[in-house]
Amino acid sequence: MNFRQRLLLARLGSAALKAGLHHQIDSQKLETARAEFCLKMLKRIWGGGNPGRGKRLRQQLENLGTTYTKLGQFLSTRGDLLPADILIELSFLQDRVTPIPGLDATLEIERSLGQPLDENFRSIDRQPLATASIAQIYKAQLLDGTEVILKLVRPNVVEKIRREMNDLREITEYLCERHPLAARLKLSQIVHDQESIMLRETDMFRESQNQINLRANFPNSNLLKVPRVYTKFTRSNLIVMDHANGIPIGDIEALRERGVDFKILAEKGVKTFFKQVFEDNFFHADMHAGNILVDIADPKDPKYIALDCAIMGSLTDYDRRYLAQNILAFFKRDYRRIAELHLDSGWIPSQTDVAAFSKVIEELCDPIYQRPLGEISFANFLTDLFRAANAFSIEIQPQLVLLQKTLLYVEGLGRQLYPQLNLWETALPFMTTWAERNLGPAAVVGDFFKLAEEFFSDPFKFGDFIRQNQQERIKASVQARELSDLKRATKRIIIKQRRMMFCALLIIIIAITILKI
Ligand SMILES: Nc1ncnc2c1ncn2[C@@H]1O[C@H](COP(=O)(O)OP(=O)(O)O)[C@@H](O)[C@H]1O
Ligand SMILES: [Mg+2]
Repeated sequence: MNFRQRLLLARLGSAALKAGLHHQIDSQKLETARAEFCLKMLKRIWGGGNPGRGKRLRQQLENLGTTYTKLGQFLSTRGDLLPADILIELSFLQDRVTPIPGLDATLEIERSLGQPLDENFRSIDRQPLATASIAQIYKAQLLDGTEVILKLVRPNVVEKIRREMNDLREITEYLCERHPLAARLKLSQIVHDQESIMLRETDMFRESQNQINLRANFPNSNLLKVPRVYTKFTRSNLIVMDHANGIPIGDIEALRERGVDFKILAEKGVKTFFKQVFEDNFFHADMHAGNILVDIADPKDPKYIALDCAIMGSLTDYDRRYLAQNILAFFKRDYRRIAELHLDSGWIPSQTDVAAFSKVIEELCDPIYQRPLGEISFANFLTDLFRAANAFSIEIQPQLVLLQKTLLYVEGLGRQLYPQLNLWETALPFMTTWAERNLGPAAVVGDFFKLAEEFFSDPFKFGDFIRQNQQERIKASVQARELSDLKRATKRIIIKQRRMMFCALLIIIIAITILKI
């Protein structure tokens, strides 16, 4: 380990001590007597018990930088992992980070727009309405009086993220070389992915386009609203959008006082999630409470308002279909099918004992089947899941990480809003309809028509289309690292290829027949 890595570790260690995290570890649970003794001594020397622990942790995360503030935002949604006092403090990181001292926002905005402000705005508040990890938010009025929000990226945030992530990457690489678990959890890869995700968050052109696309997927929706963007003001560090009137979803008390129907709200959350992932294949992947408001114009029929569309996810058709099949098998308690699907898709090594694997899945999933959210211990579930992942050498699928994170957010929110929520009852009708359309005979016919459309639109490019389609499948199966997995994947591709060639032949015959007529 080099000097810089040691320095960062020392900084992290000192921040942990200042936050008093060592007081949260039960010394009796440590494996060696020496570790137990050291922890006891540390607790005696370094004070800082329970009072104020949430505030200390929040301050330390903020001091460590943007990356750690983001981590705090994520943790603030895990009501099942952390006690309430820490959660409340960490939730401040969602929209009440300390503002940059001395920042003259109006000057920055004017510089970005390249025009005097009074040409476009009647007024701009000097005090930020909210300050989050990446941006500061200001209320303003357009010349016609429309209330808008200006989202201004914090200056120098890109350099800060690069520096922090670089340090973290060096440490995780060191860990991955030495600890098999760190390697299997792909810590280095996660840090690398996280860096590109955070850098994407600083690009307001991308965020603006995402917001426009998400809004287009929910026109006049009774589930989700997305504020309109004024694209003529979009710059790399600035977005101007409609001010959304709503109550932050984290403010459960305010929602309760207004008589909001929590059951409807939680159910709409699940539907919104499934629609985005399966129907639109474009999902908001940063669903923490700071990014969601609730429109309570009709409290008995509340709607979500999505903010902060910086991180959006999508899956390949291949992953989406496998995922849907897994979910459906889970709903039917067909654990053997889940095991086979994992094998088939290359998510587990091909030599895995399917019977033993399906038994473990059963042990994992059966206790949570049909249970309302509030009765499921997600902490236990995750611990068991990691244990199983370790025992069966399941590797993390990088392309699914965003979805898993979103799932954790949605689950955490649902738990807070309406613990009685029955996920299965809410999701099953949606998944069944989707599967009928996308996995059943209708899907095969759909594929056929897609091929036909390609052929008739440009017969000379038909070969390219088929090749491209194959490459997508090959890309997906390259996840299967081992030779035997690769063989299995190749066999699958050949079968699919034959099927496609057969369809293509059929289309050509039809085309020739039509032309003759
Ligand atoms: N259009 C809007 N209407 C009302 N409040 C908004 C709007 N956009 C942002 N906010 C407020 O600003 C906060 C931070 O905005 P956000 O876009 O999430 O910034 P960041 O990317 O830094 O997290 C939100 O939590 C919300 O309170
Ligand atoms: Mg945000």
